Amino acid sequence: MNKENKTEFSNVYEDTKRAEAYSKLKFDKTYYLAYRDLPKILTQYTSGYNALDFGCGTGRSTRFLQALGYRTIGIDISEEMITIARQLDTAGEYHRIDDGDFSRLPSSSFDLILSAFTFDNIPTMEKKIRIFSGFSTLIPQTGTIINLVSSPEIYTHEWASFTTKEYPENKHAKTGDIVRIITTDLADIRPCYDIFWSEEDYATVYSKANLRIIKKYKPLATGEEPYQWINETRIAPWTIYVLRKKT
Ligand SMILES: C[S@@+](CC[C@H](N)C(=O)[O-])C[C@H]1O[C@@H](n2cnc3c(N)ncnc32)[C@H](O)[C@@H]1O
Repeated sequence: MNKENKTEFSNVYEDTKRAEAYSKLKFDKTYYLAYRDLPKILTQYTSGYNALDFGCGTGRSTRFLQALGYRTIGIDISEEMITIARQLDTAGEYHRIDDGDFSRLPSSSFDLILSAFTFDNIPTMEKKIRIFSGFSTLIPQTGTIINLVSSPEIYTHEWASFTTKEYPENKHAKTGDIVRIITTDLADIRPCYDIFWSEEDYATVYSKANLRIIKKYKPLATGEEPYQWINETRIAPWTIYVLRKKT
């Protein structure tokens, strides 16, 4: 871990100003590539319509699943984010949970668990393994987990929706280090503090949580989209893992 990055990690989304700014984000620009392929992936790998959105934030990913026909419960650790999710979707079901506490959720009842960007904000191997092991209790053997996370490269390049050039120290980040990134689409341009995690170490987390990778996607832009891409046509900003329980 870098000397500079040794500060204590805290979830930046437990903050009213950040939550309000985040709630304005849509599915465009760099975020377009995070969500573009999900409908196809979900059709291919899920066989039921009960979904859990882990780290639902202000509900963007929950509403996305609902629009695809999934009966979706959104859960998040941040009261500030959940409050806005409820305001934006008064008919939806959103719960604030304590860290890794799934005790209020029925076991083996979700066909799909989506986690969109949430693990970027979850520190330590132990915590990640504990949460993925918890997911295993919530899905049947046929259930699917989709873990959409920032790719390691996102923190060292420029993007239509993000900048990292003020943080050259990101280049030396190792798994578990804190890295900084600014979402230029947001009204709140304070840097976001994320946890850097290599693909190799994600594979270790899954294996230790008794999960297997069914497929890994690295979505690239084609260049035909109506956005001013910077690196998106040649470097994937996101990694999408499709996971199942080990047999
Ligand atoms: C970048 S936001 C993503 C929100 C949403 N999934 C979306 O696509 O717009 C990440 C969310 O993960 C939540 N989060 C971080 N750690 C968490 C934890 N241990 N349990 C549940 N939610 C967590 C944060 O509070 C934040 O709302």
